[in-house]
Amino acid sequence: MKRSEFTVSARRTVQAVFGRSLSDVPSAYPDLFRKADKVCLVFGSGAPRSLEVRTLRLFPDRRNAYFRFRLPFSEKAKTMEQAAGLCSFLFGKGFSRDSLLIAAGGGAVTDLSGFAASIYMRGMNWVSVPTTFLGQIDAGLGGKTAVNLGGAKNIAGTFWLPSLTVCDTAFLDSLPPGELRSGSGELIKYAMIGPAPLRRSLTRHMSEALAGNKAALTACVSACADYKLRLVSRDERDETGVREVLNFGHTAGHAFEAMSGGRLPHGLAVARGIRFALIVSRETGLLGGADFEALNGALDRLRLPPAGIPMDMRRFSALVSRDKKARSAGNRFVLLKGPGRAVAAENVPARVLRKAFEGALK
Ligand SMILES: NC(=O)c1ccc[n+]([C@@H]2O[C@H](COP(=O)([O-])OP(=O)(O)OC[C@H]3O[C@@H](n4cnc5c(N)ncnc54)[C@H](O)[C@@H]3O)[C@@H](O)[C@H]2O)c1
Repeated sequence: MKRSEFTVSARRTVQAVFGRSLSDVPSAYPDLFRKADKVCLVFGSGAPRSLEVRTLRLFPDRRNAYFRFRLPFSEKAKTMEQAAGLCSFLFGKGFSRDSLLIAAGGGAVTDLSGFAASIYMRGMNWVSVPTTFLGQIDAGLGGKTAVNLGGAKNIAGTFWLPSLTVCDTAFLDSLPPGELRSGSGELIKYAMIGPAPLRRSLTRHMSEALAGNKAALTACVSACADYKLRLVSRDERDETGVREVLNFGHTAGHAFEAMSGGRLPHGLAVARGIRFALIVSRETGLLGGADFEALNGALDRLRLPPAGIPMDMRRFSALVSRDKKARSAGNRFVLLKGPGRAVAAENVPARVLRKAFEGALK
């Protein structure tokens, strides 16, 4: 068990624990669990039974007093109605602000549960237990919570850090290969934006990790999560630009995800969004030709399946300009000046957007 703790402010820290086949987390964090008068475990529908068994190994139910709440399958969980349903359930069972929510699942489960935890009685403690590769390197970390609205991703949400994040890579043993592959989009993001040691480590482990090698997966999870939590602790609310680099590939990626009507998994949409961002970086003169070839070649090696998205430039432009990351500008993207050198750019011309859109979906 590797324990990490990053200071956010004088009163708050980000705590996380990593490892494989962990057990009895409460004994390592007695304060958090001792004061919890009630505990609710949140799972997603469709997850294997082993996920619940493993979660109970992490958090043994000594008082035989755990409640369980099940969310609909995957992205269908991320609605206001589901958040209201979970809050009503907690209220009906007498949960207080001292109670604890434990969310075990993919990014959809942790996004929705974190959102409900942030609004229930104006905020209760929660523990994030990401069980997908994408969740363990990204979605389950950092306290950005969200629901989707009007067919667009993550339109309503909060910043609400979990009291603890538990990344146990044994969960990944039951992950279908497609879900492991979906994580590749976020993994390659870190391999492009991260500092040199992280980039070197991911280059060394990436292909083995994506082939399911357990040690390589654990190495990638630990390295990516460490980097992300470090950025989060310096810019919890995404206000100073420190955390913004993590949005590399995401503005276009979210648009692709929405345009696919939910058929394109988040990580693969992000991988396409990264290709989009690389082309914009080159076309706006930020990224030199040799760097572009090297970075784009790394994406090629992922052998992305066809995107299956309509070539609807008008809809794409509307989605990227309405993205919350655009703020008041017409559009705003995180681009690259070179490996590990991310910058934000606004109001990218329509000609460049079209070229990158077509190149990203090829
Ligand atoms: N909050 C953030 O910072 C952040 C960052 C990136 C992505 N996200 C969000 O995360 C979501 C995507 O997350 P995801 O890729 O984890 O997808 P997901 O939550 O949809 O889960 C994918 C599938 O994996 C299954 N699953 C989960 N754990 C499993 C396991 N251990 N074994 C077998 N099957 C398992 C689930 O039942 C589901 O069918 C999107 O909604 C995205 O917007 C959030």
